Amino acid sequence: MSSNRLIIFSFANFRAARSVSNMFKINFQIFVLSCLCLSFSYCCRLRVRRPYPLLIKNFGSKNITFRASGKGVTLNKGESVEVYCGSGLNIENSNGYKQLPNNQYQTALLFCDENNYIGARGIYENRHGSEVLSIYCSSSSSESLYESKRKLGNCEGSMSYVIGEKIPFLGTIKKLAMCYDIDNFALKYANYIAYQKNDILISYEDNFDNDLEVDLEQKVDNLENYFDFMSQDSFNNSRDRQQNVFFNAFKFDYDLIIQDEQLNKKFDSWNYMLNTMWWRKLRQNNWRFFLDALKERTNSVKYRVYVGTYGNATLPATESSNGQPEAVAVQTDGLAVTAPLYIWAYLKSLSPGNDEDFVVLAHNSPYSQSPDHTEFCASDLCDDIQWLKDSRFGRLRRIPTFGYTFCCRAEEVAKVIDYFPVATLAIETSTAAAAAATSQ
Ligand SMILES: *[C@@H]1O[C@H](CO)[C@@H](O)[C@H](O)[C@H]1NC(C)=O
Ligand SMILES: *[C@@H]1O[C@H](CO)[C@@H](O)[C@H](O)[C@H]1NC(C)=O
Ligand SMILES: *[C@@H]1O[C@H](CO)[C@@H](O)[C@H](O)[C@H]1NC(C)=O
Repeated sequence: MSSNRLIIFSFANFRAARSVSNMFKINFQIFVLSCLCLSFSYCCRLRVRRPYPLLIKNFGSKNITFRASGKGVTLNKGESVEVYCGSGLNIENSNGYKQLPNNQYQTALLFCDENNYIGARGIYENRHGSEVLSIYCSSSSSESLYESKRKLGNCEGSMSYVIGEKIPFLGTIKKLAMCYDIDNFALKYANYIAYQKNDILISYEDNFDNDLEVDLEQKVDNLENYFDFMSQDSFNNSRDRQQNVFFNAFKFDYDLIIQDEQLNKKFDSWNYMLNTMWWRKLRQNNWRFFLDALKERTNSVKYRVYVGTYGNATLPATESSNGQPEAVAVQTDGLAVTAPLYIWAYLKSLSPGNDEDFVVLAHNSPYSQSPDHTEFCASDLCDDIQWLKDSRFGRLRRIPTFGYTFCCRAEEVAKVIDYFPVATLAIETSTAAAAAATSQ
């Protein structure tokens, strides 16, 4: 080992899970605790800028993939590391001159040569070794929309879409799955993994055994290029022009169904599929408090989360109205969005030894008169879940002006919401079969 350089890697929470299958899944953070590169003449250093590329490093018989950090990369003489940017890799010298043609390369093998000059094999030769190079990606999002061959739960009649990325020779990254009704351009539910340590998830391409139970079978074009969708801008304009005392008394926004801030940044191109009409008070209070509690909890427990909406919010009936309740809606020329009556999140623990499985439901309407849980279940379970009970959410969730929120068992909710990801079908079929058998 060279004496002029000391690198200590601490692999926090490194898991190469379920090695029985050839799956290779890593939840992984790398901390370079100490790095002394005393002189440029004994090793190579590389700056890394945002958007950070992925680094693929071979450690013995394993390739480990991790997100580069602002600390940069240090290589010993003779060492190499592979870099990957789905959106296109950039190498820049200290004067800001790009060393690679725009977006021509996604990967490069960076190596530290015998002179301790860093280069990219076959792509860029570093003739001025002392130069400080920077690497970064062209854009932070390199994901595409895919249709999954494997259908999401209870989504047989709709499309199972995935926002993800295929990394050549390495595997796939899946950020979010969606059950989407393409006939009505309506989201049935979205599905993601909530876990603070999930910076990177890599699994071999044709292996289905991953946390999001979908695959990247076929790339799908962006629907927005062919069809009209309500934009946040036109929603805002129409909302602000609307003349209705009840509607104007409360604010509604057109925003992502997924309000997890870490995830949100990654869906820009598909926002139009994921937006819903939120009552602002709910989104900014009880739903936020719920997500804050969940974030804290996901430091130790991993959840599969499904989020969706249900029902139609209506304005209060007035003397003049003709019996038909008026929907809470915003209309532009040719497009209309309506506010759902409920927003729900179904959480299922994926951590061994933890079998939490429940649904959080929130009233997305300021006009509900005495909001409670009875439309969905016999008893409200939120207080049985200690981490929810002890949170700010637990203390404030029943306050109607913050959006009354409650918890139910998934089986009960599935009887009400016919597109709920847990199909009641399986249970009913076996009960029916048993009944048929006994009646014979
Ligand atoms: C590691 O990656 C290299 C290419 O970068 C590949 O040739 C090799 O097969 C990979 N090893 C494993 C164990 O996947
Ligand atoms: C729409 O309005 C909301 C709330 O007033 C605001 O946060 C959002 O940035 C607006 N969106 C656009 C595109 O103007
Ligand atoms: C909400 O309205 C839509 C469209 O009118 C209707 O198809 C749906 O059944 C309604 N949902 C509920 C729960 O009443």
